[in-house]
Amino acid sequence: MDRIVIEGGNRLIGEVKISGAKNAALPLMAASILTEENNTLHNVPDLKDIDTFKKLLLHLGAAIEGGKNTIRICTKDIKNYEAPYELVKTMRASVLVLGPLLARFKKVKVSLPGGCAIGARPINLHLAALEKMGAEVTIEHGYVTASAGRLKGTKIYFDIPTVTGTENIMMAACLADGRTILENAACEPEVVELANMLNKMGACIEDAGTDVITIEGVKGLKAAEYTIMPDRIEAGTFMVAAGITQGNILIKDCPLQHLDALTLKLKEVGVEIKSENSGVRVIGNYPVGSVDIKTLPHPGFPTDMQAQIMAMMSIASGLSVITENVFENRFMHVAELRRMGADIKIEGKSAIVRGRPFLSGAPVMATDLRASASLILAGIAAHGITEVSRVYHLDRGYERIDEKMKKLGANIKKVKA
Ligand code: EPU
Repeated sequence: MDRIVIEGGNRLIGEVKISGAKNAALPLMAASILTEENNTLHNVPDLKDIDTFKKLLLHLGAAIEGGKNTIRICTKDIKNYEAPYELVKTMRASVLVLGPLLARFKKVKVSLPGGCAIGARPINLHLAALEKMGAEVTIEHGYVTASAGRLKGTKIYFDIPTVTGTENIMMAACLADGRTILENAACEPEVVELANMLNKMGACIEDAGTDVITIEGVKGLKAAEYTIMPDRIEAGTFMVAAGITQGNILIKDCPLQHLDALTLKLKEVGVEIKSENSGVRVIGNYPVGSVDIKTLPHPGFPTDMQAQIMAMMSIASGLSVITENVFENRFMHVAELRRMGADIKIEGKSAIVRGRPFLSGAPVMATDLRASASLILAGIAAHGITEVSRVYHLDRGYERIDEKMKKLGANIKKVKA
């Protein structure tokens, strides 16, 4: 298995460009199922998860043309309505085909995703909403099967603001009969991005980005061309990289407007963040202050940045309490950070991090995507050599992070198995 080897201690200095957002690209690719015409997407990140979604679309019978960052998706010849276990188990975002396949073809079969490293992550809210819209849903042999005539618009209340759940039902509602109102909907920027793309395709969606979204069903959708926004979590990860190494990084294509919670917390611990003409400059200072963090749905502090900020708090000058409210098992990186000398105690949903003067390099294992990023950050700041194994998690969601870090001055290399 490939691993990443880092000799820590270098300040990261220079410029980095942020790639397209993984969690926006995936639903936008799924949205292409809603029209017979060809959608074109630009700024698609070159990632393993995107490859997996392409495989899924091809499996359904779609055709995909184009290079790495611009793709054209043609779903005219879809003749298969099933997302198989092999694909869903490698990427749970495969469930995003549920809503669009059901809306356009009236039937769908999707393998139930199992639990994953960060939590149980059920899809009960997606299914309950589809049932409320008139679908007949059954679960058998590990698969969800749903069928419906034309779905009916209705009022849906999500018990939890689920991101992919909101996206799935928003897509389904575009072709439903009448008006669908989603209450307690997810407000994430990726939901807004999907609504913007769907509206470009001729959908009628209002107030995405708030917790009540209204969708007026239309008869059909047409093609659209769309440029995917930059990835806020990748940008956030580089902001922390500047902070944790006392570096000075100009982040180009940095979606600062979606990073308020992180920006405010970083400023509190002494990181300077300034908008410039060509990007956002982030300057880390010594010592790193400590701060408490609670993850919450957007606009709260993103759970996808929790592991990275914890690496930084491990070398802060005081104590910080980091509370994970979104997923029940997202502290897998703690044991690995401890191997590097971090002083972290878990009490229920909170990690109590007592900052140490430095971390020391060690062999560690990545357990999920954001945990991997946290270990890379810890490694570039640590004394000595860190070897991160199971880095395939990183390739799922960060476009060439090793090369980008290296260009900024990190002593980092990917070692092929
Ligand atoms: N939940 C339920 N029932 C459901 C759906 C969700 O109980 O039917 C619970 C989940 O178990 C979780 C909470 O609701 O405790 C929120 O989960 P959500 O559904 O919002 O997560 P998701 O849609 O599966 C997306 C991102 C994740 C990100 C979360 C939270 C994509 C493809 N994935 O997942 O991204 O952490 O929202 O912001 O958009 C990542 O990129 O590393 C990643 C994990």
